[in-house]
Amino acid sequence: MKEKIGHLKEKFNQQIALVKDRAELEKIKNEYIGRKGYITRMLKNIATLPGENRPKIGQLLNQTKQELQHIIAEKEKDFLKQKFVTKETFDLTIPGKNFKMGTIHPIELVLQQTEEIFLGMGFRVVDGPEIELDYYNFEGLNIPKEHPARDDQDSFYITPEVLLRTQTSPMQVRTMEKEPPPVRIISTGKCYRRDSIDSTHTPMFHQIEGLAVDKDISLSDLKGVITEFCQQVFGKDRKVRFRPGYFPFVEPGAEVDVSCGLCKGRGCRSCGHTGWLEIMGAGMVHPHVLEMVGYDTERLTGFAFGMGVERIAMLKYAVNDIRLFFENDLRFLNQFK
Ligand code: PHE
Repeated sequence: MKEKIGHLKEKFNQQIALVKDRAELEKIKNEYIGRKGYITRMLKNIATLPGENRPKIGQLLNQTKQELQHIIAEKEKDFLKQKFVTKETFDLTIPGKNFKMGTIHPIELVLQQTEEIFLGMGFRVVDGPEIELDYYNFEGLNIPKEHPARDDQDSFYITPEVLLRTQTSPMQVRTMEKEPPPVRIISTGKCYRRDSIDSTHTPMFHQIEGLAVDKDISLSDLKGVITEFCQQVFGKDRKVRFRPGYFPFVEPGAEVDVSCGLCKGRGCRSCGHTGWLEIMGAGMVHPHVLEMVGYDTERLTGFAFGMGVERIAMLKYAVNDIRLFFENDLRFLNQFK
């Protein structure tokens, strides 16, 4: 037995002298002291030896095992050192990895700028749910069931009383229900309508809603606020005009146009030769809407407006197809650095 162990050690030393890499070393390690290695097996077989030999052989085997472990560990260290000094030396002069910075999405850019402008005019920003009750989306906005205005806003209903909001206007009602006057808020976010996709329609889009209710609020306040907004977004030289427009929750109601930036209002192809571009709906809050939330219509008046963010972004950045915003084409998005 002793001899056998001696042979084994010799063979081991020969092999270890020839190992070239860590894989080979690992193989030898397994062969000798792994779970099924020579030494391990011999240790297991001790029980079959004559009683008086067992302690000595056991001791010798354990000692040998330790020796081999030590030699292997030293060899491992050598390989580790080599690895750092030769193959994978850290080279300070190699240029760093270039990681790509994303860009802020144009819709988000418009939203951020809008919030800033209205914060500057004393408005607060409030957030509302995209899954909305029929009551807030229509009823509370003076659009009862069977009202023809519902047909203009083909909706995604979830149940007869719950739908994906078709506009941000429900936040007018939600805010007034919760808070006493005066109120000055804007609310932005996603809206949904069952529109077929084309260059100006997507079933999901964004809106910006504004509402101000207080004593002595008049149409001229609305015009002033909208003019300020348009001039900050599109440029100081822009003019704003109001045309009569119908929305059940405002009276009087208006469609708001901004003068065309390309032709300076003279008329060109991009504004349909009118000199004007339609950008939002607006008006004085309908007294019935104020009544429904329990506001005192004798004392209070208000204005509201709502606009499509994609439309604003298309005009601001001269984008001619709304689908570009949602295709995630980096060639498009990278232009908004
Ligand atoms: N919510 C209306 C729409 O989606 C826009 C609007 C908002 C009009 C507020 C008037 C006042 O068309």
